Amino acid sequence: MNILFVASEVEPYAKSGGLADVAAALPKALAELGHNVKVILPLYSSIKYDKYNLKLIMPQTCVHMGTCEEWFNVHHTAEPHGIDVYFIEFNKYFARTGYYHDSAGEYRDNAFRFAFLCRAAMQTVKDMDFKPDVVHVHDWQTSLLPYYLKKGYDSFFSGTKSVLTLHNMGYQGIFSSDVLSYAMVRDYDFKPDTFEAYGGINMLKGGIVYADKLTTVSPTYAEEIRGPIGSNGLDPYLNRRGADLSGILNGIDTTIWNPSSDRLIPTNYTVKNFTDGKRRNKKALQQQFLLETNPELPLFSFIGRFAEQKGLNLLMDSIDSVMNDMDCQFIILGSGDTVLERFFGELPKRYAGRVGSFIGYSEPTAHIIEAGSDFFIMPSLYEPCGLNQMYSQAYGTLPVVRATGGLADTIEQYDEKRGTGTGFKFDYMAARSLYDTIGWAVSTFFDRPAHMNNMITAAMKKDYSWKRSAQLYYELYKEAVGK
Ligand code: ADP
Ligand code: GLC
Repeated sequence: MNILFVASEVEPYAKSGGLADVAAALPKALAELGHNVKVILPLYSSIKYDKYNLKLIMPQTCVHMGTCEEWFNVHHTAEPHGIDVYFIEFNKYFARTGYYHDSAGEYRDNAFRFAFLCRAAMQTVKDMDFKPDVVHVHDWQTSLLPYYLKKGYDSFFSGTKSVLTLHNMGYQGIFSSDVLSYAMVRDYDFKPDTFEAYGGINMLKGGIVYADKLTTVSPTYAEEIRGPIGSNGLDPYLNRRGADLSGILNGIDTTIWNPSSDRLIPTNYTVKNFTDGKRRNKKALQQQFLLETNPELPLFSFIGRFAEQKGLNLLMDSIDSVMNDMDCQFIILGSGDTVLERFFGELPKRYAGRVGSFIGYSEPTAHIIEAGSDFFIMPSLYEPCGLNQMYSQAYGTLPVVRATGGLADTIEQYDEKRGTGTGFKFDYMAARSLYDTIGWAVSTFFDRPAHMNNMITAAMKKDYSWKRSAQLYYELYKEAVGK
């Protein structure tokens, strides 16, 4: 099949969250199944031209946006597995420090920027005469593309179907209706049951209406978004498309996240020698974060965006009791909300030698944290899939999570009688539940080391590769094409 991915983030070029991991790893897995895959993303200023061997291949390409002519350049790099990646250079929109916002806030022209990305992506493949069977788009940023296809804006794409993956219903792309003529959304398509929302435009809602197939990134989240809370209000539209909506679990890129070959960790290890391997990595991690270098203390970590979704408030409200009542250490890596940044940034001062934090984004640090920790905390309020709990299990670091979305689907609850499971799950959204579950993990660490070993072994042996999910996507593409 000819498959085109259009996304606002793709690893390693541009990443702020798991979308980038998926938009990189799924094309790879599909190419390994024998498909012809092309990927398109914006050329942000942070993308290093030489590092990725980019080449200008289509200068001065034109696309019409309403009454405007927009001229852009297309750059290309070839990835292994025969994947072509194309970068849309349009400085007016993408030569900026952030992807969606900077320190002054959200970019005010985001609606224009990503409407343009959708049209520019279509123009790019048309000009190179690549006719996709399926265009796979992601989140609100590329949600207009299914509309353009469905409305037959260009007969070149008459045989092309679209699949929209919903990675996060918390971000819907709601903007003023000023963008309508530029985005070429016709008046008669601007209705409450399509794009319109309280007088503005809801891009994700339009994508849900017009895409041929809808997916989300775990089966549990696919159920959760059928209700008003999980869907952030879009449940009527999702339920209307119920027959075309499914949940397919993300995988992980095991060439990047693999403790036996990871070059970013001090000591490589496998399921056969994890005791020694993890102990060495733990020591290095404790040293890096100025913690007491003691292998006998359970070490908990968190990595992620400091956003409400991630449930860090529960950790903020329980950490003092945890540190008072339990013998353990904590490491926190992330950035986002300023209140949380201040709180977790200052925590190491209050608990010197016991708590470490790094406020920022660091891929190498994320790897050593996964390798050196005993437990990984994800108290998410909601979590469409979540990747870190899978990285953690692959690295023998047992997740402590709230049982929501993909966290519910990818972790087997610890069974204290049998000593089985791969992590610790709680349901109730409260600091006390997190405190109790951390306590459960701490007691398991000290009192039931044989269970710990069983669980680490089971977690490391699980198959998180993309192969199975890529096959499920292919089945879905086939259904879409037959539609
Ligand atoms: P989300 O997409 O909601 O942010 P995921 O768990 O799907 O959550 O993916 C998050 C990805 O971003 C993971 O690959 C994680 O390691 C990475 N990540 C998030 N914050 C940081 C950070 N501060 N430093 C390094 N990696 C980070
Ligand atoms: C979103 C979700 C996360 C998911 C990721 C990739 O950002 O918050 O749970 O893993 O997309 O699908």
